[in-house]
Amino acid sequence: MADKILEYLHSSTGKQIAAALGLPVPPQLKRAKAGYAEQPLAGVNALVGASAYGAASTAVVKGLSAMGANLKVSSDLAGLDGIKQAATKAKVEVGISQADAGVAESVYVLDMTAAANVADLRLLYDFFNPRLRKLPSNSRIVVIGRPKGDGKDAVSETAQASLPGFVRSLAKENGKNGTTANLLQVKNGAESGIEGALRFFLTPHSAFVTGQVLPVVGGPKGVKAVISEKPLTGKLAVVTGAARGIGAAIAEVLAREGATVIGVDRPADESTLGATMSAIGGIVCPLDITEADAGLKLAAVAAERGGKIDIIVHNAGITRDKMLRNMASHLWDMVLDVNLGAIVRCNEQLLAGEAFGDGARIVCISSIGGIAGNVGQTNYAATKSAVIGYVDALAKEVSGKGIAVNAIAPGFIETQMTAAIPVVTREVARRLSSLSQGGLPVDIAEAVTFMASPLASGVNGATLRVCGQNLVGA
Ligand SMILES: NC(=O)c1ccc[n+]([C@@H]2O[C@H](COP(=O)([O-])OP(=O)(O)OC[C@H]3O[C@@H](n4cnc5c(N)ncnc54)[C@H](O)[C@@H]3O)[C@@H](O)[C@H]2O)c1
Repeated sequence: MADKILEYLHSSTGKQIAAALGLPVPPQLKRAKAGYAEQPLAGVNALVGASAYGAASTAVVKGLSAMGANLKVSSDLAGLDGIKQAATKAKVEVGISQADAGVAESVYVLDMTAAANVADLRLLYDFFNPRLRKLPSNSRIVVIGRPKGDGKDAVSETAQASLPGFVRSLAKENGKNGTTANLLQVKNGAESGIEGALRFFLTPHSAFVTGQVLPVVGGPKGVKAVISEKPLTGKLAVVTGAARGIGAAIAEVLAREGATVIGVDRPADESTLGATMSAIGGIVCPLDITEADAGLKLAAVAAERGGKIDIIVHNAGITRDKMLRNMASHLWDMVLDVNLGAIVRCNEQLLAGEAFGDGARIVCISSIGGIAGNVGQTNYAATKSAVIGYVDALAKEVSGKGIAVNAIAPGFIETQMTAAIPVVTREVARRLSSLSQGGLPVDIAEAVTFMASPLASGVNGATLRVCGQNLVGA
């Protein structure tokens, strides 16, 4: 389950040998060592720019300032016009970048929401070009644009449509030093969701998320984001498949942020589940999620604890790989039921029984295999692709109840599941990403926790890939 080559290349001997042979060394990713801090960017220089003054630039300036960042504009003033008014309105000071004098920024936020024609796109070049030769390792870049359909005419839609391609390429060009670049497509009127999203995308919590486009559309009705340390304090969270791997990491990170976790896994895995739960003060729930009344049983466990379910993470999943022509029907049925049927049934029972608390958040685990498909995985990919459609559709259906539904699509993650992949395929899958390595279970756990928390209050019906911009499987 460990990436031995990566470990070796990061050792002092490994580094010397790699340098002598001219081998590329995958970057050492800076991951979060603790929970969300109130001011995660205290003392960090953040270069900001905007194509014009507007609600998004004000939210960016306010959000970065609340996070403790030192706001800078580039010395050639690219993007200053949009920021100047926002800073005055927010009563925030903005200094001139000293990058040319060796004081580089490691955070970059460019608000392109007002880009409305081809000429406006020049700012992408002017803002980033002078910075990229000396980008510190593990820098964080976020571009903010508008989603499809928000523009006033075809030309402004066209300008906005340039941003995904730009950001994905920027992520590929700069991943070799651990830098990430992502695009937030913020719907007009949903700007209150910007700060929470920045708290994830600009900090080590999102170390393995790069080259992604996340729509920020506004949360379900009546849900207000309160951003605080330990944002999940007082929340009751169910995690399926919590005994090991990604599920165990999800349980740990949710607990780190204050949630009480009900860990679910197959009765046969009860002792492993017990060990995982006792480390975080969680509740052990041995249950096969394919049981016909699994949702009712979960509601009963939550009720015993005197509460409703605030968060459910549908993580349990299996693979039974075979070429479709050689696949026995029971392998098809088993994967469809664990990865998909059980999720749908369980949610139906919880929704019908009003087992969810106010502002509940449902997070499902998809896979990049469900986006691109994989040889030998017709059953698995069908379920993981279905999950993407499911969260989109269910979010619309339950948003009136104040419930948000999103998914995380992991790429190659170092777990028992991927340890079973043949060695050559495994090595290719690991390295062919912008960050040249596989992710760790904690990377998925951080993204799930973001989606489960008020930081993602503006995100609903979305699927976020956490894959280091993997080229295989997507
Ligand atoms: N590891 C990866 O690279 C990767 C990539 C993409 C998606 N995923 C997805 O992430 C999720 C977790 O994967 P993982 O790598 O940690 O897998 P894993 O096999 O290490 O863990 C899965 C857990 O789910 C539990 N489980 C399986 N069937 C169950 C059932 N019927 N009832 C209750 N529990 C059940 C297992 O006992 C196990 O503890 C899965 O949905 C998987 O498809 C993983």
